[in-house]
Amino acid sequence: MIWYNILKKKNNILIGMDTLFIEFLQNRLTRAILKAFDEKISLEDANADVALTLNESFGHYQCNNALKLSKILKENPKKIADKIIFNLNSKEDLKELFSKVEIAGPGFINITISSEYISEILNKNILDKKLGIKKIIPQKIIVEFSSPNIAKELHVGHLRSTIIGDSLARLFEFLGHDVLRLNHIGDWGTQFGMLISFLKKYHKDVLDDSKKIDLTTLTLWYKQARKLFDSDEQFKKDSQKEVVNLQSGEKNALKAWNAICDISRTAFQEIYKLLDIKLNDRGESFYNSELQNIVNDLEKKGLIEISDRAKCVFLEGYQNREGNPLPVMVQKSDGGFNYDTTDIAAFKHRCEIEKADRIIVVTDAGQALHFQMIYDLVVKAKYLDPNKTKFDHVTFGVVLGEDKKKFKTREGETTKLIDLLFAAVESAKDVLKSRLELDEKQLNEEAIKLGISAIKYSDLSNHRIKDYVFSYDKMLSLEGNTAAFLFYSYVRILSVKRKSSYNIAELLTNDKIELKHPSEISLGFHLFRFAEVLDIMSRDLLPNRLTDYLYDLATKFNCFFRDCQIIGSLEEKPRLLLSHLTEKILKQGFDILGLSPLNKM
Ligand code: ARG
Repeated sequence: MIWYNILKKKNNILIGMDTLFIEFLQNRLTRAILKAFDEKISLEDANADVALTLNESFGHYQCNNALKLSKILKENPKKIADKIIFNLNSKEDLKELFSKVEIAGPGFINITISSEYISEILNKNILDKKLGIKKIIPQKIIVEFSSPNIAKELHVGHLRSTIIGDSLARLFEFLGHDVLRLNHIGDWGTQFGMLISFLKKYHKDVLDDSKKIDLTTLTLWYKQARKLFDSDEQFKKDSQKEVVNLQSGEKNALKAWNAICDISRTAFQEIYKLLDIKLNDRGESFYNSELQNIVNDLEKKGLIEISDRAKCVFLEGYQNREGNPLPVMVQKSDGGFNYDTTDIAAFKHRCEIEKADRIIVVTDAGQALHFQMIYDLVVKAKYLDPNKTKFDHVTFGVVLGEDKKKFKTREGETTKLIDLLFAAVESAKDVLKSRLELDEKQLNEEAIKLGISAIKYSDLSNHRIKDYVFSYDKMLSLEGNTAAFLFYSYVRILSVKRKSSYNIAELLTNDKIELKHPSEISLGFHLFRFAEVLDIMSRDLLPNRLTDYLYDLATKFNCFFRDCQIIGSLEEKPRLLLSHLTEKILKQGFDILGLSPLNKM
């Protein structure tokens, strides 16, 4: 009852400022349910369950509570739905909002929003620059993504982390949050000992800067160094000494380490530049000086147990294959730290120093157990307070070749990411050559936009948990759910606007969108939902929520374009505005996904 009174006070009909329409609807239906069955049901059961209808011809949203309530109240669900509708309709202020509220099937309530109300919201709240997104309290959100390892090439697995992470960062930036993009580069560890002693022995010229090498060469040398480490006792000893040198900050070792990191970073930057992705490098080495303090602190808190001479933390509920307790090892028997210790330090830093409200880490699903354990540990050690900081481990499936097997080159090697990107740009060139007259320079620029966007979109449009098949032909097709198809629709709007003699800026001040034809209403309602879709994506962190939305948007625009004459019709002005809004939302959607649309196609 108290809850009902609280809800009653909130009487906000103009949505888009601090409430999404769907939240408003949920709120109003909850009130109607409480009013109808107050005292007989719990607050939880009254909480309205509102979803989009599966088919627009049934209405826009449906409320599913009557069926559940019928079990509790032992009453016919249709009768219950009737009572809810009666209480909803008794509200004067709602009359103009709905054109139809009706019971369907066994007791669903289907709600159709009036096209006048949709038009009004589009004109008032969405046609402005924020496109209907609600005011938020900005949060500090850390998105950690990409995170390749030094002296190794980026491969197709890093593509997913990089693209997905970037789109999540872009989403939160657009919504108004304070986003910190972090690249947790693997730039520390015993492998550097081998590399340093290998360079000192065979390639001094690289260390004194008189010779430049690329990452491919470095990767090759790394492999050779590993082999030597296993076969040559002296080399092994030298390498171990270099690890100690590096960890104690000895000048020459540090210099060599820096040179190695620089070679790798240059190669990574080439990829990020092509992908148009910004990242702050904060590699594993950044946390190095904190690691001993953390182990000491864990010890002080009584969380450390010695197992096989290593310092470990045992957490409840984790077992290895043999059914024995599985610990997090924080300090090896030789005193060294590892990947786990660094991640504990990273969480601690992100909570205590960065004051993150939300931490999102994007890696392949193979690291799920690692992050579960580290999360439990940092909560237990009180480095992360779950009431203050929300953590999401965002995982993804594998990229497959057209043979449905793990993506490999013809020679069976893992494909270098940079080669993959260049190949997409080349394929995009072929597509563009057949459609447009472009000089060499333009062709190059446009092909980079189309090729890179096609790769990003094909990745993001697949549910991120699932594996997907990588196909240049499919991703560059002008038909289906592809970037090329969306760009084509976008270009169509640009050309409609060019053909009209009206000036959009003037229309925006003097005219209004009016939704009349069913294709206009359908497109209008879809535009009305943009903020709702971003809200869903910000919760479940699934970029395909947005790609699905944009695909439907382009499809709906094409129907409107087919059914409703724009240029030269009596409705030219409102229809141009509707097209303009479609263009803006498409463009904003592209921005969030990191796509660069073409202006001609
Ligand atoms: N460098 C790792 C790799 O390439 C990914 C790092 C993920 N992030 C982390 N905080 N552990 O597999």
